[in-house]
Amino acid sequence: MRGGPGRVTLVGGGPGDPGLVTVAGREALECADLVVADRLAPLAALRWAPAHAEIVDVGKIPGGRSTDQTEINRMLIDGAKAGRHVVRFKGGDSFVFGRGGEEAVACARAGVEVRVVPGVSSSIAGPAAAGVPVTHRGLTQGFTVVSGHVPPDDPTSTLDYAALARAGTTLVVLMGVRTLEAICESLVDHGLPPGTPALVVADATLPSQVRVRGTVSTITELSEKAQVGPPAIAVIGEVADIADLP
Ligand SMILES: C[S@@+](CC[C@H](N)C(=O)[O-])C[C@H]1O[C@@H](n2cnc3c(N)ncnc32)[C@H](O)[C@@H]1O
Repeated sequence: MRGGPGRVTLVGGGPGDPGLVTVAGREALECADLVVADRLAPLAALRWAPAHAEIVDVGKIPGGRSTDQTEINRMLIDGAKAGRHVVRFKGGDSFVFGRGGEEAVACARAGVEVRVVPGVSSSIAGPAAAGVPVTHRGLTQGFTVVSGHVPPDDPTSTLDYAALARAGTTLVVLMGVRTLEAICESLVDHGLPPGTPALVVADATLPSQVRVRGTVSTITELSEKAQVGPPAIAVIGEVADIADLP
């Protein structure tokens, strides 16, 4: 047990390149006693943690080993209550499909001081790394970020694909590698022109980055041919044609 009360810092680590961890995120890591890290957090940045810091990997591998969220909350709270500075280190921004909100609430309810360090979300940085601006004057006045973790016809899906198809904004789909075909079909069924440009970027900002460009009708097949796997982002909309691709 260390002296004084502990605390939790939720650090969004950006899309993967450790150069995209914020200065505040790095400073938090540099004074961590315990780092609870996710699979998509830029693990190369863990070298900034002090030598005494304990590193716990609670990475969620799609379809594989995962640590229960309640257990993670408990780890954060117990660590802080033991007087440690706990850094919860995640990919992108903790509040974009990152369960950071649940963790912040759990800490606050347990009377633990919690601070949020916003991160660079892959939902914007992924397209940008592939050369795609999510908004572009004269092309689109907005963008919509959705989770594709379930297909449109899944009973647990709450997304209105008819509205998305006619929104006229760029659509950014996270966690949609498995469901891309069903999502694209639904958008076209609801009136999105089949020739609408689309792009998929995987491992964005990492040396292994791959990008595939097509249309909403061809992007699934092209991505499969390129053997694109998670983590990947699909961008659907006129801006996808801006990418300077061969
Ligand atoms: C659970 S969500 C977390 C998103 C994260 N909180 C953020 O703001 O970027 C994980 C999804 O983010 C996307 N993602 C995260 N990092 C990525 C990367 N480097 N390249 C492409 N997609 C990425 C993928 O769609 C992946 O399935």
